Amino acid sequence: MEVIIQRDYEQMSKTAAQIVAEVLNTKPNAVLGMATGSTPLGLYQELVRLHKEAQLDFSRVTTFNLDEYVGLPVNHPQSYHYFMHEHFFQHVNIPRHNINIPSGTTSNYPAFCQWYEERIAECGGIDLQILGIGSDGHIAFNEPGSSLSSRTRLKTLSKQTIDDNARFFEHREGVPVYAITMGVGTILDARKLVLVASGKAKAKAIAQAVEGPVTSMVTASAIQLHRDAIVIADKEAAADLTMRDYYEFIYAAKPAAPKS
Ligand code: F6R
Repeated sequence: MEVIIQRDYEQMSKTAAQIVAEVLNTKPNAVLGMATGSTPLGLYQELVRLHKEAQLDFSRVTTFNLDEYVGLPVNHPQSYHYFMHEHFFQHVNIPRHNINIPSGTTSNYPAFCQWYEERIAECGGIDLQILGIGSDGHIAFNEPGSSLSSRTRLKTLSKQTIDDNARFFEHREGVPVYAITMGVGTILDARKLVLVASGKAKAKAIAQAVEGPVTSMVTASAIQLHRDAIVIADKEAAADLTMRDYYEFIYAAKPAAPKS
C-alpha cells in the first residue's frame, strides 16, 4: 500500500485527481468507481477543472458508484444520484448511458444487486475505484462486521454512520437506515484503489485501516490485501499513523510522484 500525506485538503484532492487523470490518459475507456460524501468533492472539482481547462476527456469512460441510500428517489437532494449529477456528471462529458449508480428504489433488491455485479463484470471490471472512509472505518457502506468477501447487497447503516450523515439531513430521523452498497469483495476486485481522507475525525479510522490488523470490524483495513492501493490523507487525517515519517520519506524520494 502506498500512503501519501498531503499538507491540506486541496493538495489531497489534486493528488487524487492527478492519479485519476493518469489512468484516463493511459486508458481513455477506463471504468471508474465513484464515491460520494464530503471528502471527494474537491477531487471531483479538480477533475471538472481538468476537463474544462486541460481537455481531460470522459467521453469513453464508464462509471459505477459505490452505494445509494434505500428509499430516496433519484431527485432527492441527499440521494447519491443527485449528488453525483450535481457535483460531477453534469460538468463532464460521460455519456449518460455509461453512468451506473445503485438503485435505492428498486422493487427487487437481490435481483438488482446481482445485476449490478454482472454489469461491472460485463464492462471489464473497475480500473480505478475512488474510496472515502467512514469514522467507523467503513468503505462504501460496509459497516463493521461486514464480510471481507461481501458483494453488492442491502446493508443496515451503523448508528455511527447515521449520526455522521445526519449533518446532511434536516432531522436525524430523516437519514435512511438502509443502503445498497458494493461489497468489500467487489471493491477489492478493482484494479486500483485510491482512498482519500481528510480531517481529524478520520485520524483513528485511517490509522486502523493502514496500520491495524485486517479485520471486518474496520472494513477499510481490507485494502491492505490489495496489490495497488493508494491512501491519500491530509495531515490531520494522517495524524495517528505511527509510520508517518517513513511514508513521507518514501513519497519525497519518488521520482515521478504527482505533486500538484
Ligand atoms: C460514500 C461512501 C462512504 C463515504 C464515507 C465518508 O459513497 O462510500 O463510505 O466515503 O462515509 O464520508 P465523508 O466523505 O462524507 O466523510
